[in-house]
Amino acid sequence: MSAADAGALVAAGYDTWAAEVRRLAGERGALILAHNYQVPWIQDVAHQVGDSLALSRVAADTDARVIVFCGVHFMAETAKLLSPDKTVLLPDLRAGCSLADSITADQLRAWKAEHPGAVVVAYVNTSAEVKAESDICCTSSNAVDVVRSIPADTEILFLPDMFLGAHVERQTGRSMQIWMGECHVHAGIQPGDLRARMEAEPGVELMVHPECGCTTNVIYLLGEGELPADRTKVLSTGGMVAEAGSSPNTRFLVATETGILHQLRKAQPSKTFEPIDRAAECRYMKAITPESLLVAVRDGVHEITIPDDVAVRARRAVERMIQIGPSAGALRG
Ligand code: 13P
Ligand code: SF4
Repeated sequence: MSAADAGALVAAGYDTWAAEVRRLAGERGALILAHNYQVPWIQDVAHQVGDSLALSRVAADTDARVIVFCGVHFMAETAKLLSPDKTVLLPDLRAGCSLADSITADQLRAWKAEHPGAVVVAYVNTSAEVKAESDICCTSSNAVDVVRSIPADTEILFLPDMFLGAHVERQTGRSMQIWMGECHVHAGIQPGDLRARMEAEPGVELMVHPECGCTTNVIYLLGEGELPADRTKVLSTGGMVAEAGSSPNTRFLVATETGILHQLRKAQPSKTFEPIDRAAECRYMKAITPESLLVAVRDGVHEITIPDDVAVRARRAVERMIQIGPSAGALRG
């Protein structure tokens, strides 16, 4: 089958394409994982959909020989760290992450040299080289628990997301050294007048991802009593799916990448979900397309490799995170 045939299968519609993807995955013994920001077809065909922590846990536990990771490069690398004997495929190597790119291993080494004895907490949105220089990883769903696990008198270097770092500081009451990185998608989310929107609709609930540039503003407004505490939540993408299910509210405003809306609407068809910013789309996540997924399961591309010396040290940081406790994030099959 040629690449053109992959295009023809996509053109034939979801059912034809999905049947072929699942058939090829079965032949290869492959498990397809999709992040909540993937396009709807990919979320629907995947064996598991979830946030970055939940997917890391599946990668650690699976018996599948091959993992096809529909997400971005650092997520596929994390899966490879946790399953070193498995083949991990990323359908398009251009699926990077602007946040992960905001710090290099050299920059981290220089930062550590300025703070001897500090514990380095690295968000999983980092390269394997940066993880290898870190003591423990975290994701948006467990960052607070990870920081709480570190002795109170220890200095913490938190990287690379400044908005998540500020959120963790507020939640733990602990001050940290925070790297000034940001995700271009979340930093740019334009919240509009949230206070007016929440006031106008007494039944609407606001869900905000902690990477959002507006998180600090939202938490400030909460503290001032300008936003209702019972209807304002800061959550990972998996946490949003879980909250949508357990909340008595039926209307939600959602501040994160818009791919999550498909998963929310699918999980809770009787509830309504509206993005705070319709333009919040991650081009890296969307680099994975139905065609590239089909080619990946068909041809076994593109394999993720990590040099052994980096992998050994990076794995330690990820495994420490995995041991911290259960994911608050929801996982859907
Ligand atoms: P989650 O861990 O909440 O899925 O977030 C990952 C991510 O890259 C957010 O931009
Ligand atoms: Fe990275 Fe931001 Fe895209 Fe998440 S949304 S993968 S943090 S660039």
